[in-house]
Order: sequence, then structure tokens, then C-alpha cells
Amino acid sequence: MKNFLLVGNGAREHAIAEAICRNADVRLFAFMSANNPGISGLVRKSGGELAIGDIHSPQQVEAFAEGRGISLAFPSPDAVLAAGVTDALLIAGVPCAAPTREAARLEWDKAYCRELLRDFRVPGSPKFGIFDNEAEAHSFIGSCSGQVAVKPSGLTGGKGVKVTGFQLNDGVEAKQYASELLSSRLGGNVSIVIEEKLDGEEFSLQAFSDGSKVHGMPLVQDHKRAYEGDIGANTGGMGSYSDANHLLPFLKAAHKDDALAIMQKTIEAFRKKTGKPFVGVLYGGFMATKEGVKLIEYNARFGDPEAMNVLCILKSDLYSIFEQMAAHKIKKAPEFEKKATVCKYLVPEGYPGKSITDQPLSIDNAALEKTGARVFYASVHEKEGAICTQSSRSIGLVGVADTIGAAERIAESACGAITGKVWHRRDIGTPGLLKRRTAHMKEIGTA
Ligand code: AMP
Ligand code: GLY
Repeated sequence: MKNFLLVGNGAREHAIAEAICRNADVRLFAFMSANNPGISGLVRKSGGELAIGDIHSPQQVEAFAEGRGISLAFPSPDAVLAAGVTDALLIAGVPCAAPTREAARLEWDKAYCRELLRDFRVPGSPKFGIFDNEAEAHSFIGSCSGQVAVKPSGLTGGKGVKVTGFQLNDGVEAKQYASELLSSRLGGNVSIVIEEKLDGEEFSLQAFSDGSKVHGMPLVQDHKRAYEGDIGANTGGMGSYSDANHLLPFLKAAHKDDALAIMQKTIEAFRKKTGKPFVGVLYGGFMATKEGVKLIEYNARFGDPEAMNVLCILKSDLYSIFEQMAAHKIKKAPEFEKKATVCKYLVPEGYPGKSITDQPLSIDNAALEKTGARVFYASVHEKEGAICTQSSRSIGLVGVADTIGAAERIAESACGAITGKVWHRRDIGTPGLLKRRTAHMKEIGTA
């Protein structure tokens, strides 16, 4: 038996745990900040152990790993990687399939990332500037006619970026927001990144990296805006879909190839700069624009919800992919089923503002099972036998089928089997929404 340690407790981690436990020779050990009922069920079934503690404390995670014969670890969430949990485990002799704090800097320091790409001539960056000075930031915004994305350099849970035409009305507001960020230091880093505003369709490409080569997974499209029709505040992601051909209905194979080439060049640049490999999952947030594929940001981890889409159709054994990544050599490209997937997140009433918490959910298990949807618990807890909401996203429901349409109907009927003070976006994966995406691509002249 192999002892695998997972650090984290969202729906993304539930999906990772589920994929790992498809290998009957693996015992799952979990270190979580709150008890995820899905993960703890898998821990029990596999004969492992769990602990609740501070997942951002390298000492606590390492102390849990010690003496448990852990053969491989996967610290998963961004803030855990930025805290150096992988580094502590590696020093203690535990192999890890996740990035060190230095490698995860591609995510937690957007200024560092853009500079790396510029210095090593990796294509795909929009026009950008890095600023710690208000006057220079304002002048750059002026040079882009006010059409910009203003970004804190550090981690903000996906909610710190503001773009003209969305969260910012015009250049004046963009300048105000830049000034506000420079004085508040939101995200913990000193500088801010300002980019020209890009127009196009966004897509996510996740890849397994062994330090020398990136192996791409099926493309996914996330939905960050809270409400149907892509309006409202940005969220962690309300749901996502992927297509049976592993592309998206509005993209061509060349888009995926270009994105993967940018990622490959990035891990090579990282190795040239630091002398060290990028080991872990690399997630590129891209935009297909008239001028080609542009990189919006990197994450040094699986996406949430995107992990649920790809892991539900992973044919290869996740444990051995991770094991090969930790040994710096993936021997065979991981394989995925030729299926479409649609993920919908149930979120508490009030989310993404002030969520109504601690509300019991009524789950019709027979009806849910009949839909065939996969169920991944996120921010919920068990109280007197009931699953209750907390402040963040509650449950991810994934339909897997031959077409996006069929997968969407599965995910939608699964949402109907769970009632309580929760809501979800009904439009994700629907024909109407897909049509809008394709029309948008045509309108900007990229199709
Ligand atoms: P990020 O945290 O960098 O992924 O940014 C959050 C969201 O802001 C992205 O998903 C995009 O929708 C938007 N965004 C970021 N950068 C740009 C850009 N240069 N042009 C247009 N939109 C952007
Ligand atoms: N779905 C976007 C993210 O995981 O950051």
C-alpha cells in the first residue's frame, strides 16, 4: 500500500481525492482546515487518517506527515503553496507533486511572472507595466486610453482584478483603483500590474508538469461572474464545461497548441532563471483574441472548478502521474476519456456578497443517484447528520456525457435534487450560452 497525503479541503480537493482513490493500492491521508465530508469518507474507506489544522502552516502539515510513511504528497490550494508547505515536506524527505514556494511565485507574484516572460521572450503577454509609483501608473493607463486591467500583484482569491468596462467605468476609475491598490497593498505585494484590456473568449488549460515537459489536459471554460448572462461580481467560479474533443466549441486545435507552447516555454524560462524545475499542475488562464492566444494569468495548481471537469474523465492513474512528476519524469502522456463535462456550483444565498451560512441542505439521494452526476463537497459541514452551508461555494455537481448538452442536463437535474438556501447559474453549458460565445468570437474577428 502507498500512503498519499492531500492538503486542502475544497471541491477541487474532493475531486483529487476521488481520482487518487480509484487506485485501490492507495491509502488517503488528508490534512484539512475544515472537515470535508466527501474527503473524510474516502479517507475512512481507504484506511487512511485525517487531521484538521492550519493547512497554511508548514510545521503542522509536516508534523502530520511524520511517522505516517507518506510516500507522496500533494499540497493543493494556492495559499498553501505560497506558504511553503511543499518546501517543508521536501526537506522532511516526502516526495511532492506540487510546486515549491519559489515555483508557485508564477501565481502569487504577477509582476514576477510577467517579468520572467518578458526577460525570456515567452510570447503571449499583453502590453503591460509594473508600478509602485502612482504617477507612472496613471500615465500608463492614459497611454492605453483608459482601457486596462488593474491587478494587485499578490493573491486575492481571484477577486482583486478590475477591468475597464466591467468593474471600472472608465480610465478615471482605473486610475483611482490603481492609487487605492498602491496604498492598501491588497494581496500583500508592493507593486501592481496594469495591462492593456484584451477582448476575446477566455479558456483554461491545465497541464501536468514534471519540470521538463508540460502535458496538457482538456480545455475548460470557467464562469467567474456571479449571475446568468455573465453579469455581477467576480466569484471563485460558478461552474465550467469541457467538450468531448478536449477543445471548446469556439476554439480550434491551434488555440490549444499555442497555449501549451506558451506554458512549455514558461517552465523552460523558469528553469533557466532559477536552475530549478517547475513540478506540479500549471494552469494557464488564456484569452483567444484577434491577435492570437494571450496569457491572462498562471495558477500553480488545479483550477476550482476546472479540476472537477478534467479529473472526472481522467483515464490514467492519478497517483502514478503524480509519482512520476515528483520524480521529474512523466513517462507517458496522461489520457482522458472523449467525453464532455459540465460542472455547476451550488452556492449559498447571498454569495458572493454576504452568504447565509449554517443552513441545512435537503439532499434527495435517490434522485441524485438517478441523475448519474458526480458530487463534490466544497464549503459545507455536517451537523446532526445534515450537510450545512458555510460562507463559500457549497457543492459542485458534474455531468459527464457524450455532448455538452447532455452533460448540462445531468448537472442541472442534479442541482434540482438538492434544496435549501442555495442557488446556481442555470445557463452554464446551455446551447444559448455556447451560441453567445461563438458569436462573440465572430464579432471580434477571431473565428
Ligand atoms: P486574473 O486574476 O488575472 O485571472 O484576472 C481575473 C479576470 O479579469 C480574468 O478572468 C479576466 O476576465 C479579467 N482580465 C484579467 N486580465 C485581463 C486583461 N488584460 N484584459 C481583459 N480582461 C482581463
Ligand atoms: N477557476 C479559477 C481558479 O481556480 O482560479
